[in-house]
Amino acid sequence: MKALLINGSPRKDGCTNRALEEIIATLNKEGIDTELFWIGNKPVPGCTACGFCIANGKCIYDDNVNSIGSRLDEFDAIVVGSPVYYGGPSGQIQSFLDRLFYTFGSKMDLKIGASVVSCRRGGATSSFDRLNKYFLMNNMIVAPSQYWNQVHGSKKEDVEKDEEGLQTMRALGENIAYILKCQAGAKIDKPIREKKIPTNFIK
Ligand SMILES: Cc1cc2nc3c(=O)[nH]c(=O)nc-3n(C[C@H](O)[C@H](O)[C@H](O)COP(=O)(O)O)c2cc1C
Repeated sequence: MKALLINGSPRKDGCTNRALEEIIATLNKEGIDTELFWIGNKPVPGCTACGFCIANGKCIYDDNVNSIGSRLDEFDAIVVGSPVYYGGPSGQIQSFLDRLFYTFGSKMDLKIGASVVSCRRGGATSSFDRLNKYFLMNNMIVAPSQYWNQVHGSKKEDVEKDEEGLQTMRALGENIAYILKCQAGAKIDKPIREKKIPTNFIK
């Protein structure tokens, strides 16, 4: 079993990456293989509704959308991470996912989907909802956590202090592993939950 984690931030080693690292560590502890893909810091073309993908099964822009799309059979779960930009996911990740799902959406059937977002202060839930929309109209099973999947900060050191956010990522990782194992037919006990860590943003 393998999960693909996509870092949709132009900052390779920032807050989004830190959140994804926490999920990766949990998945690996549960015996799930992982691959982390960084979207990069160059502009990503958006969908131009040209119809090339419908006729040819690949996007007219022959970039990472096609290379990831052609490998989707390798992955049982897809986790998308993004920073919050003006109350929504980053432009790069939206452009990437528009083309990935428009071209390869039928390959997502019954894979596990999860999104995580990082913001300094506001816009987390609208971004989270936006990302989940890709999964929910492509027959994917959206994995839950104990809170909406968000961390807070401007740099990764801030996220380190967001103990509740990181705990939310660990719970998400456990739930993804649980669902994957159940899908594979295993009869397993429910995850043992950590004592909840509530953190507030008052210093
Ligand atoms: C263009 C831009 C827009 C942003 N908009 C918001 C916003 O609406 N709300 C917010 O809380 N933070 C906003 N931020 C801050 C980032 O969401 C935040 O620093 C995030 O944790 C960065 O994640 P990263 O280190 O993975 O890139 C914005 C940052 C940029 C560059």
